[in-house]
Amino acid sequence: MGNIVISGTGVFTPEESITNAELVKSYNAYAKKFNKINKDRIDAGEINLLESSNEEFIFNASGIKKRYVVNKSGILDPDIMHPIIRKRTNDEPSILAEMSIKASRMAMKEANKTPNDIDAVITACSNLERAYPAIAIEVQNLLGINGFAFDMNVACSSATFGIQAASDMIKSGSADCILVVDPEICSGHLNFKDRDCHFIFGDVCTAVILEKQENNLSKNVFEIISTKCITQFSNNIRNNFGFLNSAKETKPIDRDLLFVQEGRKVFKEVVPMVSQLILEHIKDEDIEVEEIRRLWLHQANKSMNDLIGKKVLGRRPDIKEQPNILQDYANTSSAGSIIAFSQFNSDLESGDIGILCSFGAGYSAGNIILKKK
Ligand code: COA
Repeated sequence: MGNIVISGTGVFTPEESITNAELVKSYNAYAKKFNKINKDRIDAGEINLLESSNEEFIFNASGIKKRYVVNKSGILDPDIMHPIIRKRTNDEPSILAEMSIKASRMAMKEANKTPNDIDAVITACSNLERAYPAIAIEVQNLLGINGFAFDMNVACSSATFGIQAASDMIKSGSADCILVVDPEICSGHLNFKDRDCHFIFGDVCTAVILEKQENNLSKNVFEIISTKCITQFSNNIRNNFGFLNSAKETKPIDRDLLFVQEGRKVFKEVVPMVSQLILEHIKDEDIEVEEIRRLWLHQANKSMNDLIGKKVLGRRPDIKEQPNILQDYANTSSAGSIIAFSQFNSDLESGDIGILCSFGAGYSAGNIILKKK
């Protein structure tokens, strides 16, 4: 692939955040109320008592300390338990487009690019706000970019699949410079009434600029050595929300219309899949494990990342080799590995190799081998 580079990244972080303590307090108030209202049915064995959540479990099981969100008050209100987002008119920017342009402007600034330099926009994320028109076309319009734009969704792997798509398009000549943007409002697909997963996700938006190396004007540049994406069908992470919901007579409260997972199975099945992908991919490119200076992994669970890092390097990675942002952001779906990359790449030296890897529902995993210029 050789001559394509990532020349800029941007991370837009919402202003509000929620600590584990705040989240647990709200969940426990909800559970207490639920148990009181449903006491007779619980006593009769018709439904289960809701157990309380606790901070210690959340940190030990996941490594998460807090998460940023687009709306805190709705999520924390035990009578609401979801973000409250104002309905906008069709003449206003959508919330996904609004956060996209903020992250995109940061990436464009770092890459020294104006809208005129960009040929295409890909919005790659887990949850798209509407069916059409594409969010990417709205972002293209708001930024004043010519060319073309489209949305794509490969769940938590969307950003790396987007980078592969952009890189292949530059390689084939469809575009010279592409903006890939990942707006993730994960709090919108999370069931805050479910103790098993209420702590998992947060909101953020990331963006990257890809272009031909010969056009690069940035100082902090990574060459894309190679990309490799894989998928393998699984029901262990699923969300049945879709345009046929009303045709199927599903109700908005149906549990399967939000994120559901078998966390233990995901952990067990995805760790070998991802470590094997990384090892096979570097082997294909004649890169030795010892040459890897950094692993920017998808940020879903700290123990999962620790284990993947250990399987890839053959020893425990130190904190610098495999940086985590999970403690501050939680799982931000496709954006997680890009946040880690954006925040922990400037200290690398010319010629250093790094691995950008994301994984998640599908199952899907995308691996990008990068070399600092
Ligand atoms: N507070 C207190 N206890 C809790 C709890 C909470 N918030 N949530 C669950 N528990 C309890 C469970 O009920 C269970 O109790 P039991 O042993 O009496 O049955 C126990 O804690 C262990 O629960 P489990 O769900 O098995 O925990 P875990 O160690 O597997 O951790 C995850 C849960 C979700 C953090 C972990 O499985 C994970 O991250 N997996 C990978 C997920 C992933 O990457 N998904 C990708 C999403 S894109």
